[in-house]
Amino acid sequence: MTDNFRTGNSPNFQEGGLRGFFSKNSALAFIVAGSAWFIVGTLYGLFSAIHLMAPEFFNNIPALVFGRVRPSHVNTVLYGFVVTTLIGLGMYYTPALLKTKLWSEPLGWVSLFLWNITVLSGPVFFSMGMSQGREYTEYLWPFDVTFMIAIVTIIINLVMTIIHRKEYVLYVSIWYFVASFIWIGGSYFIGNVMWRPSTGALPGILDSIFLWFYAHALPGLLLTPLAIGAAYFIIPRVTKTPLFSHTLSIVGFWTLVTFYSHIGGHHLLQAPIPHWLKTMSVVDSMMMFIPVIIVIVNLWMTMRGRGNLIMADPAAKWVAMGLIWYLIVGAQGSIQSIPQIQKVTHFNNWTVAHAHIAVLGFSGFIALGGVWHVIPLITRRKLYSQRLANLQFGLVMIGLTGFFLVLTIAGLIQGEAWYNGETVYRVLPQLQPYMILRTIFGLFIISGALVGFYNLIRSIRKPKEYPYISASHAVIIETQKNPEI
Ligand code: HEM
Ligand code: HEM
Repeated sequence: MTDNFRTGNSPNFQEGGLRGFFSKNSALAFIVAGSAWFIVGTLYGLFSAIHLMAPEFFNNIPALVFGRVRPSHVNTVLYGFVVTTLIGLGMYYTPALLKTKLWSEPLGWVSLFLWNITVLSGPVFFSMGMSQGREYTEYLWPFDVTFMIAIVTIIINLVMTIIHRKEYVLYVSIWYFVASFIWIGGSYFIGNVMWRPSTGALPGILDSIFLWFYAHALPGLLLTPLAIGAAYFIIPRVTKTPLFSHTLSIVGFWTLVTFYSHIGGHHLLQAPIPHWLKTMSVVDSMMMFIPVIIVIVNLWMTMRGRGNLIMADPAAKWVAMGLIWYLIVGAQGSIQSIPQIQKVTHFNNWTVAHAHIAVLGFSGFIALGGVWHVIPLITRRKLYSQRLANLQFGLVMIGLTGFFLVLTIAGLIQGEAWYNGETVYRVLPQLQPYMILRTIFGLFIISGALVGFYNLIRSIRKPKEYPYISASHAVIIETQKNPEI
């Protein structure tokens, strides 16, 4: 390690402002891109919500028909907002925990470029009606390729960083972060049927099995480990306490991959897939509560007696709340995997409510907490505004809680009606008030995205005397100040 590196005098660390941002630190660039996609993705959510509230509103403008804006929304919030932000956090904390630099910043920018090209292809091509037409695997084949190359470059960068590390211990956050790319790389290739570029699909029911194998790996083996890795990084740091149990975190890691990798069949309980596949999916969906509860217990025990530190920290409260959503999501997920329960909850807004508290409430909250945790470390200054960070928390929290309640009630109305043989057209008018409320609560979430982006940009637009520093450099400075950390 050179002296320049230690003292921050390397030209790499010298520039502040937006120019400084663009000249280095691909981790930070991932985070900024994630926050921008948060705005774009939720705007598409608004368009979708308007359709379901007032179907004639857009008067059949081709680019804005429901079938085009819905996938633009879902893919952009999932891959664009949540995953992009969580990748940025991991690209920050992995070298930081390993007390070294990211192996290759240029390769980090290549990953960033390919990843964002893939995300951008969604709204661009879906709005022209060009998509592979399978939920969560809509990207066109060339962008499946950019997706896969982005994943491979990230894996190479991480593995090389690990090889060159200066810290022997591989903390559990690193396990989760690296594993998520290995898992998703394999399942994306299979679930997207990439060996058949013309359709990206298989004939018949087999296609649904492949699709849902992937579509549940996406939340389970990408969003979940990315979010858990970030939470395991943030909570011990904010509470200034070692993790409650290393053993629990390892057991949680292996039970997650054991139970989560093959339960996509719980999306197909009403479809003619083999009975053994349904049984296995249901049983292991129930077992999924084990890794969920392990993470919750481990992190809550780490936080025990330190609630004041959590509540005072603009980042940690997001993570703590994300864990509460995770508990609800996990409990709900296991219950709604039971075939008898699904007779009421499947094919309606109940699942949409689950999806929002899962993707935004659990992984999105932890991603946002992570942003506010690492930005001061990278910029070496306080956030531009803690108040705005808290305002964002309030807005998103109100929006999501309202969203969840409204959609759950709407789902139960639909489920009960259809269970009793009621026709669809008689149920739709009853749903209208809930669709209006969903749009209103959605506006809270969008406002939160805008406030957050403003706060982020103001926080990184620093005068030159506050240089950006790399992840490893931030940790070195901190370790010098406090050898305990
Ligand atoms: C970052 C925040 C958000 C995330 C992560 C998110 C995620 C999702 C996901 C995963 C789905 C697919 C659900 C399913 O098929 O079961 C979905 C659908 C949807 N979302 Fe969002 N969403 C977010 C914000 C919003 C906002 C702000 C609105 C409204 C203003 C919205 C409105 C919708 C609508 C209308 C659908 C389609 C539901 C349907 O087909 O019945 N979302 N969203
Ligand atoms: C931890 C245990 C979990 C279990 C057992 C579980 C179970 C389920 C089940 C059974 C469904 C299908 C419901 C139906 O179609 O009737 C579902 C849907 C969904 N879940 Fe989960 N879930 C869990 C956690 C999560 C997490 C952590 C996420 C995201 C971070 C997530 C995201 C989703 C999404 C997006 C859908 C909607 C899929 C669609 O478009 O239909 N789930 N979940």
